[in-house]
Amino acid sequence: MASAISLQALDGSHSGSIQDQVNDAVDSLMASLPQPEGLSPQQRRGIIARYTAVLEGNFIYWMTGAFLAVGSDEARSIILDNLHEEVRDSHPAMLRRFAVAAHAAPNDLDAQAVCNDLTNVRLFVGKLSGVRIVLMMAFFEGFIQRYMSFLADLAELQGSTEKEYTDVHGVCDIAHTAGLFRALEEEMILDPVDPSENLFEGVELLRTLILTTVDPAPMTTSATA
Ligand SMILES: [Fe+2]
Repeated sequence: MASAISLQALDGSHSGSIQDQVNDAVDSLMASLPQPEGLSPQQRRGIIARYTAVLEGNFIYWMTGAFLAVGSDEARSIILDNLHEEVRDSHPAMLRRFAVAAHAAPNDLDAQAVCNDLTNVRLFVGKLSGVRIVLMMAFFEGFIQRYMSFLADLAELQGSTEKEYTDVHGVCDIAHTAGLFRALEEEMILDPVDPSENLFEGVELLRTLILTTVDPAPMTTSATA
């Protein structure tokens, strides 16, 4: 995906072009997904399990990293609202119920399959670059609101009727995405990114991780099949 970005786009008033690039990244990721009906039960289980292995214990961590990294009151407020909802409604517990109902609770091999790419995202978050983390999270929220129907289809084909996690995230993340783009604008005004830095580093690392949850490296595919 395009990682180069014009200086004009670093101005908050031009953030629409960044949003377009994020939307394009989400579009291309969605277009790369397989048809659930064309997958084997083991492949469907693996996708749910690896997604759960990543998201159950890391979404709140990543969003907390965003909170620690941002400097504007507006961005802090938006991120805190998001964290509040995650913890109050225990989205990790919701995701665990979803995975268990689909007989896809992650095991050690699922965790191993995503380990390297997950580590890369964690180390990126550890750099505490506010604009870039908020951009990564905006990409993620934009992605999962569309990914939820795919995930729900996988679970249904595995015999599950548990849909709270996918129903909640297909709706609430529309508002979350818009909020994070507002936060991004505030952060860009407060702390413009050095043009020599790759603004989309987090987006690219997270995209790679998501692709691995869908289709892990051949070595781990054989281990999890
Ligand atoms: Fe959530």
